[in-house]
Amino acid sequence: MAEWLRLGSRQAGGRGGAGRPWLPWAAAALLFAALGLWAVDAIALGDHPWPLTSAADPGRQPHFVLISQQHDNPYWQQVRRGAEEAAARLGVRLEYVGPVRADLKAHRKLLDMAIAARVDGILTQGLTEAEFVPLIDKAVERGIPVVTIDTDALRSRRLAYIGTDNYDSGVRAGHWFVRATGGQAVVGIVTGTLEAINQQQRVEGFLSVVAGFPGIRVAGKEVSNIDKVQAVAAADKLLREHPDLTAIFATSALDGPGAAQAVKNRGLTGRVLIVGYDDVPETIEFLRAGLIHATVVQKPVLMGRRGVERLVDHRAGRAFPPVEDTGVTILTPADLSAPGGGPGAAAGPAAPEPGGARR
Ligand code: BGC
Repeated sequence: MAEWLRLGSRQAGGRGGAGRPWLPWAAAALLFAALGLWAVDAIALGDHPWPLTSAADPGRQPHFVLISQQHDNPYWQQVRRGAEEAAARLGVRLEYVGPVRADLKAHRKLLDMAIAARVDGILTQGLTEAEFVPLIDKAVERGIPVVTIDTDALRSRRLAYIGTDNYDSGVRAGHWFVRATGGQAVVGIVTGTLEAINQQQRVEGFLSVVAGFPGIRVAGKEVSNIDKVQAVAAADKLLREHPDLTAIFATSALDGPGAAQAVKNRGLTGRVLIVGYDDVPETIEFLRAGLIHATVVQKPVLMGRRGVERLVDHRAGRAFPPVEDTGVTILTPADLSAPGGGPGAAAGPAAPEPGGARR
């Protein structure tokens, strides 16, 4: 909401004119009504009025929109950084938007708004097949190319998917987990959302591996809504309800830090093995502190950068592969203390050997 208010005051102070101070508000109200924005209670737009431009304006820069799952999420800020870097280099006007809190309805609304604004290209996740495939196809039918990043809507008419092979990343986490625990663990899962395809695939991949080890028991699964505070609560519930818990598998960027915080709060440091996702700053801190033992590092900056590049390639008629697996690496505390270690070190070619096992 704050973004909307700031947007309103900027418009009022700018083009409004001293004689008719109500004019920008009336115009905004009309635009809101036209786009059905009253239904969206918490979205954060970019730094510009929406839409930036219309398709009827010749000679303008291409206008792409990157829709994130959660506006201020540090993982999505990494995606944004890559996209903005490519946009600046390639002369594209990029708008970054996203719900303030992860919210499928608001996310879909933003996608619909981008279509209504007739932007020149959209970068989005395909979070669920049922809800995102029709919307992505609607954009494509209206001549707006869509590239999915981070999570694919495989059955949609998107131009390309750029991101992690999420199932495979879960498999890799599972193998690391088995080696680190020696095949003996009571594990709880903290997952971002139950609906998102990428979260489902990570869990499925992980379970496909640990299912082969009778000494590993899955005690339960809790949801964080990709929110740190809710991730702490989710992990705390697992720890409370399963006093024999020895490990947590945390499947989205803030779930690892949430789990680590919950373990710390309960004075269980050193007694619960945590495997998370991504290398947001808090995760790196918890890795250094020995509370997170491994994290599956994706390449969000590359996803953003490559997504913009592909939309530009499409405009120029250049061919590119429909699926680009950006890959993951597994980062452990040992990698951080190695020469050249630290955030970004996981971009190296070799997957590190497991370390930090608690059992
Ligand atoms: C996922 C994103 C998600 C983010 C949330 C990442 O691991 O790939 O889909 O939005 O975590 O924190």
